[in-house]
Amino acid sequence: MEFKEKSAYYRERFESVLSERLNALDASAPDGITVPMRYAVENGGKRIRPVLCYATAETLGVPLYEVDDIAVAIESIHSYSLVHDDLPAMDNDDFRRGKLSTHKKFGEAHGILAGDALLNFAFETALDKKNINADYINALKYVAKCAGYGGMIGGQVIDIEGTEKTEGNLCKIIENKTAKLIKAPIVAASLISGGKYLKELEEFGDALGFLFQITDDIMDVTGSFAELGKTPDKDVKESKTTAVSVLGLEKARELAERYRETAKNSVKNIPDSEFLAQFAEAVFSRKS
Ligand code: IPE
Ligand code: IPE
Ligand code: MG
Ligand code: MG
Ligand code: MG
Repeated sequence: MEFKEKSAYYRERFESVLSERLNALDASAPDGITVPMRYAVENGGKRIRPVLCYATAETLGVPLYEVDDIAVAIESIHSYSLVHDDLPAMDNDDFRRGKLSTHKKFGEAHGILAGDALLNFAFETALDKKNINADYINALKYVAKCAGYGGMIGGQVIDIEGTEKTEGNLCKIIENKTAKLIKAPIVAASLISGGKYLKELEEFGDALGFLFQITDDIMDVTGSFAELGKTPDKDVKESKTTAVSVLGLEKARELAERYRETAKNSVKNIPDSEFLAQFAEAVFSRKS
């Protein structure tokens, strides 16, 4: 299968598993929470984290059904992080994935609570899987850590504190707020396989995570609303520490190129890893 077809195949599988899990939400829960929860997670994200989870699993010979629930968990955590990221207290963004952000659509309190609920839903779903073994628990622990105070949340704190625009701070922000949650689905799939190619995949996840955020920072200044589905030029307005504000556009592009190469090199000795290498290329040249 070609790269595009394969990506579409993983995405379709994910959408179907996700709606199955969401359709099983407790019907006695108030609509006031389930409607904004579904809005926040079913609203047209690119699904790169689930795709990476499936692709890594397939590369390592892990059946895709073994990672379905962890893929849903990671995408739910990611979607909650976006809901909170858009809140007035954080980036104050009115649009997300081409639509009103969750707090704009349902109000701030409902946005906050929908984010909280998605975080719980993530672990409820991941732990609902049948035949959970020690490798799976290890993988889930890893995801929890990547998403928590020493990962995404910690990174968001440094981001909003408006630290000095140095390369060191930039690195800390990107590593934590973004790279760890991109590394999570890749490393989780390896842990579920019993740790196959763990070191190489950790390195790949790291590099891809940096590449992803650097391209996000670049697109903030070069992209349009139609391409991004979120407000462009937001980082300048909010005076953010980004690859562009620290390095300038040209150097940011060069750095992205270097991470693309690191990502590709780190998987070159893993059999059947062409999709992962192509993924790094696609992130480098993405427009959305
Ligand atoms: C946006 O993530 C936040 C960053 C880490 C840059 P995505 O670009 O993966 O967002 P969706 O899920 O496709 O909307
Ligand atoms: C978001 O970084 C990282 C998260 C943990 C949500 P950004 O603030 O750059 O993400 P966008 O540009 O709003 O999607
Ligand atoms: Mg932010
Ligand atoms: Mg933001
Ligand atoms: Mg951004």
